[in-house]
Amino acid sequence: MTAASAPGKVILFGEHAVVYGRPAIAVPVGQAQVVVTVTDRQAGGVRIRSAATGYDLSLASAPGDHPLAAIIRATLGELSIPDEPALELIVESELPVGAGLGSGAAVSVAIVRALSEHLGTPLSPERQSALTFEVEKLHHGTPSGIDNTVIAYGQPVLFRRGQPVERLIVGAPFRLLIGDSGVVSATGPAVTAVRQRWQADQTRYEALFDEIGQIVEHAASAIANSAVELLGPLLDANQAALIRLGVSHPRLETLIEAARQAGAAGAKLSGAGAGGNMIALVNADTANGVERALLAAGAHHVLATEVTP
Ligand code: MEV
Repeated sequence: MTAASAPGKVILFGEHAVVYGRPAIAVPVGQAQVVVTVTDRQAGGVRIRSAATGYDLSLASAPGDHPLAAIIRATLGELSIPDEPALELIVESELPVGAGLGSGAAVSVAIVRALSEHLGTPLSPERQSALTFEVEKLHHGTPSGIDNTVIAYGQPVLFRRGQPVERLIVGAPFRLLIGDSGVVSATGPAVTAVRQRWQADQTRYEALFDEIGQIVEHAASAIANSAVELLGPLLDANQAALIRLGVSHPRLETLIEAARQAGAAGAKLSGAGAGGNMIALVNADTANGVERALLAAGAHHVLATEVTP
């Protein structure tokens, strides 16, 4: 039996603009993760079970674009295994689907890890990321690659599409609360909606993406230089730009406002938006009060995480 896991992720700055070549910052969230267990089985072929989604399927009968089947086939191909081995994969996930926490990429990375280890050839983070990126294209057609990168490398990244992976330099630790709006929102439709608006008015949207790109550059240097006090206003500025991009949601804005009122230094949505999670910057003095305020304002649950050097 082989078990492997992968973390979730949150985007701190730069979602959506990152699809259009601007930089973005994301960190892994180990407090919520996906675990995949692989065991040999008597009967031939690969069987996949996932309690969270209710999947119980055989690889042979799964459609070509089924994300779980696709990542298994990609991994077997990468390992040059021509015949389907006799295995059972059990996927257990603490990550809500459609919440902006990278559940799709985390499931794929955990499968690549568990399967390649079980078959005796563990794959590198670079290959885990590349295989997952191919499957991310099934989830939404034009992924930037940030989710598979931050999850496969398991470290904070300053991501630029098509560029080598750049580790985010963190000067001083800072704390975040991640609040779930409870509104399920798939990444694909949110990204497509932005693309349609961009196609209709490229000048306006390119300017917005530039504005977000600048915020990301400022945030990256503030994080590197331990200037945590600059991050709150930058989160708020990024949220204002995301509202203009049309990817916020009233439930997210209620949570963001509640967090700010309760003492968060700044807050914004995180991920594709239109639902999903928001993040709030807190410290030792404000964390408990902001968590209570988020729950009182309707957050389905709140995760606490720390970004460390
Ligand atoms: C999704 O986690 C982040 C988006 O920017 C899409 C992407 O980068 O592929 C919305």
